[in-house]
Amino acid sequence: MAGVSTDLRIKDFSRIVFFTGAGMSAESGIPTYRGKGGIWKEYDYNRYACQEAFDRDPDAVWEFHNYRRSLVAQCTPNRGHELIAMVERTMPTVTVVTQNIDGFHQYAGSKNVHELHGSLWRVRCDQCGNYQRTEMAPLEEVTCMACHAHWRPDITWFGDSLRHEVLMAATAAVEQADLLIAIGTSGVVMPAAVLPLIAKKGGATLIEINPQETEMSDAYDVTLRGTATDMLTILTEGLDDSLPQAAADGRQGT
Ligand code: APR
Repeated sequence: MAGVSTDLRIKDFSRIVFFTGAGMSAESGIPTYRGKGGIWKEYDYNRYACQEAFDRDPDAVWEFHNYRRSLVAQCTPNRGHELIAMVERTMPTVTVVTQNIDGFHQYAGSKNVHELHGSLWRVRCDQCGNYQRTEMAPLEEVTCMACHAHWRPDITWFGDSLRHEVLMAATAAVEQADLLIAIGTSGVVMPAAVLPLIAKKGGATLIEINPQETEMSDAYDVTLRGTATDMLTILTEGLDDSLPQAAADGRQGT
């Protein structure tokens, strides 16, 4: 952490959005999509993560999807996820807008989360419109119980549109933000990558947390070249929700 200097502290803001990407979960042991060891270097998303592939060979898509479910099911949220959940407990208006599908923000305790790209742990049936939450494990039964069509992973594949209500809620949050902290995203996938620019247009301060420079780095007011956990530890200095429960309850009562 040496050498990182910013006098910005989260407690100086009141409407905060954490905009996260795969790098947020890298310290949990989950590979990112691009860069060293990236998923798309090993797997061609045209064969495993798009509607055409699913229509062509649903079993191959389910095999890849179950591989990802089993990998993520062996991991746990990291300190960075916990710090974001702690900020939500201690600050008035905190929203997580994530591109991640691992559910780790909620698993770490965040409540106000918009999953732009869906969830590994939800399936849907495009024949009968059935949705189902599932265990955090590979799915044994991959056909819909109501109509026996293949369950479709409820994630946004390349070429899919984002769920309208999720994108609208995420956009409203960033428009009203006074601080947006982008963590662990390469900023190359639309329309998610536009959200920080919408926040900036609304007058928010923008912070980027990423060990590497990205295509969006110039848009940020502060760029913190480090990991999610290290940089969030610095930014949340002075915030503390380990007050005795009574005091904490009192604070919630205000
Ligand atoms: N802490 C913070 N950032 C990190 C860390 C870390 N420990 N490790 C890696 N990173 C950064 C990398 O430098 C990179 O810029 O995380 C970023 C991950 O970028 P991508 O792999 O492109 O992931 P993301 O930006 O979330 O991709 C967006 O693309 O494939 C689609 O739907 C998929 O949601 C995904 C979208």
